[in-house]
Amino acid sequence: MRLSLRFVLPLMIVLAGIAYAIAPLVDQLTLSWFVHDLDTRSSLLASAIQEPLQEQLAAGKKVQIREFFNRITRDERLFAVGYCASPTATAVASRSLPNEIRCDDLGRWDGAHDHLLPSAKGPLHVTVQPMASEAAPDGRLVLVHDMSFVTRRSEETKRYVFYLFMGLAAVVSLVTVVIAQLSWRGWMAGMRALLRGEGLLRQPGPSAPPSLPEFKPIARDLQRLISELEAETRARDESQVTWSPESLRAILHGELRGEDVIVVSNREPYIHQRRGERIEVTRPASGLVTALEPIMRACSGTWIAHGSGSADREAADQNDRVAVPPDKPAYQIRRVWLTTEEEAGYYYGFSNEGLWPLCHIAHVRPIFRSADWAQYVAVNRKFAQAVASEAKTRDPIVLVQDYHLALLPAMLREQLPDATIIAFWHIPWPNPESFAICPWRDELLAGLLGSSILGFHTQFHCNNFVDTVDRFLEARVDRESFTVSFGGKPTAVRRYPISVAWPPDAEMLEKSVPDCRSDIRRMNDLPPEHMLGIGVDRLDYTKGILERFRAIERLLELNPEWVGRFSFVQIAAPTRSGIDEYEHHEAQVRALAAHINSRFRHQGPPPIVLRIEHHEPREVYAYFRAADLCFVSSLHDGMNLVAKEFVAARDDERGVLILSQFTGAARELPEALIVNPYDADQCAAALHLALTMPVTESRDRMRLMRGLVAEFNVFRWAGRMLLDAAAMRRRSRLIDKTGRGES
Ligand code: G6P
Repeated sequence: MRLSLRFVLPLMIVLAGIAYAIAPLVDQLTLSWFVHDLDTRSSLLASAIQEPLQEQLAAGKKVQIREFFNRITRDERLFAVGYCASPTATAVASRSLPNEIRCDDLGRWDGAHDHLLPSAKGPLHVTVQPMASEAAPDGRLVLVHDMSFVTRRSEETKRYVFYLFMGLAAVVSLVTVVIAQLSWRGWMAGMRALLRGEGLLRQPGPSAPPSLPEFKPIARDLQRLISELEAETRARDESQVTWSPESLRAILHGELRGEDVIVVSNREPYIHQRRGERIEVTRPASGLVTALEPIMRACSGTWIAHGSGSADREAADQNDRVAVPPDKPAYQIRRVWLTTEEEAGYYYGFSNEGLWPLCHIAHVRPIFRSADWAQYVAVNRKFAQAVASEAKTRDPIVLVQDYHLALLPAMLREQLPDATIIAFWHIPWPNPESFAICPWRDELLAGLLGSSILGFHTQFHCNNFVDTVDRFLEARVDRESFTVSFGGKPTAVRRYPISVAWPPDAEMLEKSVPDCRSDIRRMNDLPPEHMLGIGVDRLDYTKGILERFRAIERLLELNPEWVGRFSFVQIAAPTRSGIDEYEHHEAQVRALAAHINSRFRHQGPPPIVLRIEHHEPREVYAYFRAADLCFVSSLHDGMNLVAKEFVAARDDERGVLILSQFTGAARELPEALIVNPYDADQCAAALHLALTMPVTESRDRMRLMRGLVAEFNVFRWAGRMLLDAAAMRRRSRLIDKTGRGES
């Protein structure tokens, strides 16, 4: 309606202007028509009265002539009549003949132009006709017509012309508005679909607007243009930005105008534990925490997580919040409390006995119990409520982390429809056949599709996810833009390879490499020049610790010169110890280490030093810096940040990384010695190669890997997601705006 008024009013004004502009032309035209008519009429009248007039002139009856003239001027149009016998004579005329018309001045009315004489009544039309007779060969008849009717007619004509143009304006406007509305709606629907990333080329779903065939030729080009522009902007941004906490802060305050950022995960970054009289703060062994902690320090948002520590409640305030890091607070943890039953069903049960083995190919069967599922749903809802209560605006940016919270995005979408929800799946996504065994697969997929962006470490996992959705849900999958539309909302499925902070915390690198080498060897009763390998993992069956030990055993079998000269320290953080599979795994690891040590111990230090205990990041860094090699042998891993941390820790550019081909990291660090952990002989050969590698080669490899980790650091991981979120928010604001503009 507004659009119609905006369009019609100016059109009417323009046409009214045109009507006024052409009115004088119309006036002139009608006047010349009337003058021509009166000229003709005068000639006719002159011929009509010639005979009676000649008779009376011949009889010299001037009085009768005057009466005759008075009589004939009763005619509505004929105003006056006069006769001049000669230029010097006095006119014999009707009473109404204007004084300006004199016999000695009749020459002025000759010719085709200038027949008009102004008067108080209005213009008069004067014509002079020859009326010769024998007595007066120069006789002339003057006929004066009243032209005031011409003015009246002209006014009427102007009025009609104006009405005509107004009518025309109304018709033209109506037709134009109808056409414009139709095509505008089409355009807007098209543009909105394009901006939503749905495109106009696909088959519309039941709720989608019908596709517009007339847009098909340009839709693809437009879509490509938008993607190219975005890619170009991203490439430009990425090539120009040195990714650091500062650049992340700049994105938050620039692109995102300081918007509310909320991180949600099961695991919290700082755990308060009671140790007798003291409260101790520990940092959990979790790749997720390792990556997100520096991000939160930079962003100063709120991190919502399960309060799992024995002193967590004591440390939190009345709103369940605690400022961290304890020595230099930079952001808030908001703790969510779970009952023992909730933790058992949601965390140990569905998340870690069900989803964890489901997503990792480690040949451990997932266990699905409906009671666990019920707790999983309930706890996800609890987290959704916590997010809603922490949100300071109606459209916060919420970063949902990992498989514990797969239902949260859809639940949040209900509570905060305008939020930008970025879900990140830190573990692998299996192929559709494997995922299909989960009895609640559809619910999990629908839950994740509540997010605006869904991230995985590798393109392979993005593909698996999209294939799974395509197989089991009624959703629209666009493989060109990698967008899934489910329930009317699109979710962009993207690859964001996670990483570590770069440069690493200065505190971590404080102790020099030589000091780390000597201290670590001394602490482990190893000779100063002893060759040392390191493994750092949670004691999880997916990490391939048993396979690693078998490879070490094989090395010692194949290359006995290393017996007594090489030891491998395995740091294994206890994890999920309430689960049978983990207890069983721990027992197997202990037994295998003991077996290998007993087999080769007689010749000096043990080949395997097993440390099943929690180590703080600073201690782990000291081990990384002390080692000659690091062995990551995961059977399946989304990324594996231990590999990247080892690289980050080696500012001396020494040390060799042996890396399982089944980690996401293997795709980014090809300079590592890439191995199949199931192949003990190959791993043993890699160990031997690492122990004998010339310094120049190991330095070249390490330099290249450090270059990659420096460039693709964790600030880039978060920055890219936030930049995509910012672009998405700009798009949806544009859609809102264009949506309003349509009415
Ligand atoms: C993996 C998961 C994380 C989890 C971490 C530690 O890296 O992706 O979400 O935090 O393991 O496991 P935990 O069960 O101790 O949190």
